[in-house]
Amino acid sequence: MADKIVVVIDSGGRGAALVHKYSQSPHVKNIIAIPGNDLMQLNSSTPVRTFPELKTTDIGEIIQVCKKYKVNLVDVAQDNAVEVGLTDKLIEQGFNVIGPTKAAGQIEWDKAWARDFMKRHKLPIPFYETFNSHSKAIKFVNKNPKKRFFVKAAGLADGKGAIPVENAREAIGAIKQMSMFGKAGETFVIEEWLDGEEFSMFAISDGKTFQIVGSAQDYKRLYDGDVGPNTGGIGCSAPALIVDKNIYKQAELILKTALSGLTQEGRIYKGILYLGAIVVRGKVFVIEFNARWGDPEAEVLIPSIKNDLYELSMSTCNGTLNKMKIRTDKKARVVITGSLKANAAKTERELFGIRDILRLPKVIIYGTRVTQDGSKYFVSSGRLFHIVGEGEDIIQARQRAYEAMERISIEGDNLHYRTDIGWRDVERIRKGWKLDNPEG
Ligand code: AMP
Ligand code: GLY
Repeated sequence: MADKIVVVIDSGGRGAALVHKYSQSPHVKNIIAIPGNDLMQLNSSTPVRTFPELKTTDIGEIIQVCKKYKVNLVDVAQDNAVEVGLTDKLIEQGFNVIGPTKAAGQIEWDKAWARDFMKRHKLPIPFYETFNSHSKAIKFVNKNPKKRFFVKAAGLADGKGAIPVENAREAIGAIKQMSMFGKAGETFVIEEWLDGEEFSMFAISDGKTFQIVGSAQDYKRLYDGDVGPNTGGIGCSAPALIVDKNIYKQAELILKTALSGLTQEGRIYKGILYLGAIVVRGKVFVIEFNARWGDPEAEVLIPSIKNDLYELSMSTCNGTLNKMKIRTDKKARVVITGSLKANAAKTERELFGIRDILRLPKVIIYGTRVTQDGSKYFVSSGRLFHIVGEGEDIIQARQRAYEAMERISIEGDNLHYRTDIGWRDVERIRKGWKLDNPEG
């Protein structure tokens, strides 16, 4: 019977994908999204109420909403909510929550702690050092003047806290930039730059067992050809074809070791654990862990889940995940993120074409920063929306996504998106890649 109320704590496309999937559950009567966004109702067959005036970190107000509406499940999907301990506070109040506690989520919100944790548990990682002092860090890079590093703020920085540097001069510049991140940059990590191909893999854990949901490949640079500044992710494809049986086994073992390491350290992990990995000559190294779905990875992976998401999430709260088997539809998906052109002034502009897309088969649009006013849609800054195409392979999925994207425009010709999302796997397929994919 549809009598359950689910709360999704997220503002973007990831939250929209969660709302969409929860709305397909026969248990779910209503969905509350905090803060949510104006496009969430588009894909939901159940009513969605948003709270645009709240932030994902407004613990007191969120608890009040959960009490007022007597909600059955809260999905803490956004990293900053994990960091402030929203899960802990909701559990104290007796709510069912999917999403890690503050202590378990430290694996994401403190990169210095996370690297030390990975070292303690002998996970494959690059060489790194942690610093609290600019002068010590500068001494360190001056001793290694020709080394290429990543300089990373230890705290959360909206995906912008990792700076690649080619030599000591650039490294010193990056060290100075750490102050820009405020408290998040007080401690920072300098680590060896690994050259290889990246992918991500997602596990769901109930604190006792875990299952792999799938893999994806994110495109983070702003412009075609993987150039320009790093973004939080501007497109993505799934599954990641680099994940053959050998890579899958290594990644699975990394996730297993991390989850059991967290348990051993008294930080039981319930929720989605995201492994960001890089393959160097056939060996998988950990770049990072995140305590949540990726965004836009969620937009390609969540639609593939065939299970009832309400039941799946409840099984992680109750520690009964072993009674479920995650099933996915084995389709390929590509998501393309639309944003405002980098040089566009951040004023409100009309967005055209959304309703056209709703009629297209095997295409979904998820909003991030689109506001609705009557029958019109408006945008003003940042990542705006995500278009997901589905297909039998990445080539077909990407074609559907791009055909849909061509129908969208922003007043004054101000829409930006990459035109080469998924190129790595498109090339693999064109070169005759054969199915050796454990998920495939
Ligand atoms: P992070 O903020 O740790 O997610 O890093 C952002 C992006 O920087 C990653 O997705 C990688 O593309 C890149 N990156 C971070 N650390 C390294 C590293 N040690 N070697 C190579 N690339 C890295
Ligand atoms: N797309 C990368 C992330 O969510 O961290």
